Amino acid sequence: MSQEEHSLWIEKYRPKTFDEVYGQEAIVKRLKSFVEQKNIPHLLFSGPAGVGKTTLALIIAKTLFGDIWRQNVLETNASDERGIDVVRQKIKDFARTRSIGTDIPKIVYLDECDSLTKEAQQALRRTMEQYSRTTRFILSCNFSSKIIDPIQSRCTVFRFKPLVKEDLVKVIKHLAEKEGLTIEEKALEAIYDVSQGDVRKAENILQSCSAMGKEITEEGIYEIVSAARPKEVKGVLETALAQRFLEARSQLLDLMLKHGLSGMDIIKHIQREIWNLDVTDESKMQIVAQCGETEFRMVEGSDEFVQLESLLASIALHKP
Ligand SMILES: Nc1ncnc2c1ncn2[C@@H]1O[C@H](COP(=O)(O)OP(=O)(O)OP(=O)(O)O)[C@@H](O)[C@H]1O
Ligand SMILES: [Mg+2]
Repeated sequence: MSQEEHSLWIEKYRPKTFDEVYGQEAIVKRLKSFVEQKNIPHLLFSGPAGVGKTTLALIIAKTLFGDIWRQNVLETNASDERGIDVVRQKIKDFARTRSIGTDIPKIVYLDECDSLTKEAQQALRRTMEQYSRTTRFILSCNFSSKIIDPIQSRCTVFRFKPLVKEDLVKVIKHLAEKEGLTIEEKALEAIYDVSQGDVRKAENILQSCSAMGKEITEEGIYEIVSAARPKEVKGVLETALAQRFLEARSQLLDLMLKHGLSGMDIIKHIQREIWNLDVTDESKMQIVAQCGETEFRMVEGSDEFVQLESLLASIALHKP
């Protein structure tokens, strides 16, 4: 198989210009006009997963800077495992110097800002102020309510929504055409049904389904989404129970990517699978309780993978 065939469609088909973005019309229109004036304010993108936040930030950067975007854009993640201090140092080192080859202020794109503590956000706010002459910040989060007011008030806030059915169907039809797939009407419904407007999830499901054949059917989609699942979820749990934490973690990640599952989907499956595990009732109850806690934190908006990891860790550590 060629390299190309291994590539993830979500990257292969990530829109590269404003015109390739589906839905989010009002947002695209305003962002486009900021870029045309070559003057963007600090921006805060808030909204659910897979709806175009990172995509649009990259489009802004590439449209503003063209060939020299890499030198003038820092893309980083607030939940970087090495900690916010490292992130801040990185931002400072980058923001300290002027743009290269242009007068347009540099851009720092900071993903997952809602994972920052209030203190870290205060520090980020000071950094934003300190370098606002040379640098614009584009911050991204799932819930803007987790972002402190002083940051919100410095940013123009854009609230992203899941794609409506009509737009999601357009994305899928476009991919199907490019990949030479035929796709029945009911399969489109099914993809919308399981993705709920999350484009990343929809594209991942389509890609997995296409591995079984060029004809995409409703049953095919539901099979991809539900099949393999219980067995694989059980496998992850068993690996964690055997205290092979790292292995369980990577199985889990594969599973999520392969089937385009959200953290919440995984939790529901775990909850069902607990009863099929070969452990004592007491152990089962402990795990059920932990699941409830994890689900609550996800609903509150904390990082899904971090939460699932912590659930796996507690399963690996639990005392029978
Ligand atoms: N509005 C859209 N139009 C077309 N494709 C989209 C759109 N939104 C997302 N996609 C597709 O989904 C993929 C993931 O989108 P993106 O990285 O922008 O999500 P995000 O909103 O940043 O999500 P997260 O909160 O998980 O970071 C993109 O690579 C692209 O292929
Ligand atoms: Mg993103």
